[in-house]
Amino acid sequence: MLEMKNIKKSFGKVEVLRGVDLEVRAGEVHALLGENGAGKSTLMKVLCGIISASAGTIRIDGEECAFANYDAAIAAGVGIVFQEFSLIPYLSAVENMFLARELRNRFGLLDRRAMRKRAQEILQQLDVDVPLNAPVSRLSVAEQQFVEIAKALSLDARILVLDEPTATLTPTEVERLFKVIRELRRKGVAIVFISHHLEEIFQICDRITVLRDGDYIGTCDVADVNNDTLVEMMVGRRIEQSFPPKLEILAETDIVLDVEAVQLKRGGPVSSFALRRGEIIGFAGLVGSGRSETAMALLGAFPGATCRMKLEGKDVKFTEPADALAAGIGLLPESRKEQGLITSFSILRNISINNYGKYRKNHWFIDLKKELACTQKAMRQVSVKATGPNDRLDTLSGGNQQKVVVARWINHDMKILIFDEPTRGIDVGAKAEIYQLMRELTKQGCSIIMISSELPEVLGMSDRVCVFRGGGIVATVEGEDITSEKIMTHATTGRQDHAA
Ligand SMILES: Nc1ncnc2c1ncn2[C@@H]1O[C@H](COP(=O)(O)OP(=O)(O)OP(=O)(O)O)[C@@H](O)[C@H]1O
Ligand SMILES: [Mg+2]
Repeated sequence: MLEMKNIKKSFGKVEVLRGVDLEVRAGEVHALLGENGAGKSTLMKVLCGIISASAGTIRIDGEECAFANYDAAIAAGVGIVFQEFSLIPYLSAVENMFLARELRNRFGLLDRRAMRKRAQEILQQLDVDVPLNAPVSRLSVAEQQFVEIAKALSLDARILVLDEPTATLTPTEVERLFKVIRELRRKGVAIVFISHHLEEIFQICDRITVLRDGDYIGTCDVADVNNDTLVEMMVGRRIEQSFPPKLEILAETDIVLDVEAVQLKRGGPVSSFALRRGEIIGFAGLVGSGRSETAMALLGAFPGATCRMKLEGKDVKFTEPADALAAGIGLLPESRKEQGLITSFSILRNISINNYGKYRKNHWFIDLKKELACTQKAMRQVSVKATGPNDRLDTLSGGNQQKVVVARWINHDMKILIFDEPTRGIDVGAKAEIYQLMRELTKQGCSIIMISSELPEVLGMSDRVCVFRGGGIVATVEGEDITSEKIMTHATTGRQDHAA
């Protein structure tokens, strides 16, 4: 159905696609794999007419085509779920889904009822409950992800590209999405699927194409590869996919943050937990279970929430995140594009933006040399792939943007770091490095709250796990009890009155 041959693309002097091939059959789920910055999203943007290739041909059903823009691609039956969301924040889910393709009645007026109905049908297919009329900026990241997916599904495309659709979804939601993908496959849709979660590739994909640094490495059947060979094709070397050792004696270390009562809204569940020095607490739960909201509430960034807590034994109350920052608590937010980064700024500015206190020479001047040196060190630590620290953020691949958000916090000497989905969109090799860094931080006395939808990460990194359901903590597990079965059971059936 789809044949891309010898595709080349350069941005300025940098060649990011160097003769890439991709063939996708009707009724096939085809994985596109590669490290951060390998060129996956770029190749898909070429396909959809969003950027134009410097060379190469695209054929659909044997017919050569080159789309001038995304509308032309849609008209030819090509749809994409973007890695960086394309939603307009002020519009509702329905308005976003039908933007520029509004359904009209026979008088030429907007047929809101028909659009709403169609939107509901698609979301029902996905088995999710997303508010249809609220501006999407008010939805959670996972809900926005579903709107983005629904928007692409509403195109009824023959060729559908999914660029990291699962990056913020929990296993339960991923399974719902997979059900829909299998259905589309049965109907003969050609699907390109991009993900850094290799277990998903084995679950849903039929064939695989691997890119490395803009080069085409090869295409093979999923049945012919295993995890290790796949990683080797992607990174060109073997990777030890192990987690750093956990804390040994937990009970004896002192409590840094004692959260006595946090409540998201009046009448809602009340949660409590204590964070020890050098400990990593994992926040697990389904999408919408209140993990991110609770983290925001601690920092005074969740309107309507109340929170009573002690930081190093002293009562504290934050009215905004800046207060928390001054007290030594930092947050790496879930949504890098809206909350984590200024994409029109350079890497340098993005990393140093809350570090300026440290770079101060005196009352008036900033030590620019020190700023540059620290930034370069942080970039090396998380291996950001870019031409240099002055690159604008919006020229980086999604995974590399995420590395920049992480880089900002690692040399900051914070008491507590709250990491919300820290490895979202980060490839296997770089992930292992970030896990190592997180453990290093805890050895220096920092405590971490890690919110993650990726179960292996929660299991591998957490000294203790707080499981959320319905807006509060329903269970806390530690040691041997940190298993996927226990966590999933609490996350799906845990009751509030079980909370300590
Ligand atoms: N507008 C741009 N200007 C300059 N360079 C760009 C631009 N867009 C992408 N690049 C570069 O092209 C390369 C490939 O980026 P791309 O987004 O395709 O990677 P990717 O494989 O999707 O990675 P990820 O897994 O992180 O999403 C990167 O090195 C990126 O910095
Ligand atoms: Mg990408």
